[in-house]
Amino acid sequence: MSEIDVSEIDALQTEALAAVAAADDLDDLEQVRVRFAGKRSQLNTLQKGLRDLDPDERRTRGQQLNALRQALEAALGDRRAQLAEVALATRLEAERLDLTLPPRRLRPGRPHLLTQVEQEIIDVFVGMGYRVAEGPEAEAGAFNFDLLNIEADHPARQEMDTIYVEGFDDVVLRTHTSPVQARVMTTTPPPIAVICPGRTYRADAVDATHSPVFSQVEGLVVAEGITMGDLRGTLLAFSRRLFGHEREIRLRPSFFPFTEPSAEVDVSFEGAGGNHGWLEILGAGMVDPNVLTACGIDAERYTGFAFGIGIERVAMLRHGVADIRDLFEADARFLRRF
Ligand code: PHE
Repeated sequence: MSEIDVSEIDALQTEALAAVAAADDLDDLEQVRVRFAGKRSQLNTLQKGLRDLDPDERRTRGQQLNALRQALEAALGDRRAQLAEVALATRLEAERLDLTLPPRRLRPGRPHLLTQVEQEIIDVFVGMGYRVAEGPEAEAGAFNFDLLNIEADHPARQEMDTIYVEGFDDVVLRTHTSPVQARVMTTTPPPIAVICPGRTYRADAVDATHSPVFSQVEGLVVAEGITMGDLRGTLLAFSRRLFGHEREIRLRPSFFPFTEPSAEVDVSFEGAGGNHGWLEILGAGMVDPNVLTACGIDAERYTGFAFGIGIERVAMLRHGVADIRDLFEADARFLRRF
């Protein structure tokens, strides 16, 4: 007859309870349970062996083994509850949202400075009753030059200034938006009051004040009885709307092939410390009768004025931008200022 040594039971209990206490997560604990209380555990083997003992010993050892099993199961239960609590706490901590954290700042997009200035200029003229007219950027030489009285030998037509479109007979990237005005005059009977915003191109090298791509808003009014006084009044009203109501303008004689007389127009400024003077903002003039006639308008009956505003220049003057390249390099630090 085999015997069960009481010290074996004590040792098993010590070992089993230590293993339960040492289990540090629920998976671990399940392995401990299988090992010490499962079907193939030493405890099971011992309990099965009880039947080979004589009745007295079987009772004592049986009670001891049952006590061991109960102690083991109680310990397993307690440890399981503890570990479940730890697991829950860990998960809550890991998934915690700190609602007091400031949110990441969203920076909404906005129109580019040039678009803003162009829109402001358009708004001023639309407010005076002008229509907006647009035309192609790749333009026929006829509209860009011929109808505008710019003759074949005019310096502006040389390769140096004009970008020609390869593969076409007489197609250029328009050097101003005046061809849109020619398009309007050839298709619309007076009275005409239009502004022509858009991109324009010249074969200029890039520097702080030149860019081969730039933008203009040009204006044209043709009707009976239009005079230089109308031009001056219009440009004064425009300058005050855009730059401030205290501004004055002055017209200096100039030359453009499509206007006669022609003028450069300056707007007054008062800077810091009594600094004041004039800034050139646009070119203008009375539409040359040759241009009206070429576009099919009766030059005996109608007169008109035209003007051309460089958008980059206005944006730079108004916002203190010293380098035109800032307007074309999409540097967010610059763009954010406007
Ligand atoms: N077309 C001229 C330019 O591009 C500007 C202008 C327009 C001047 C109308 C006079 C009248 O420089």
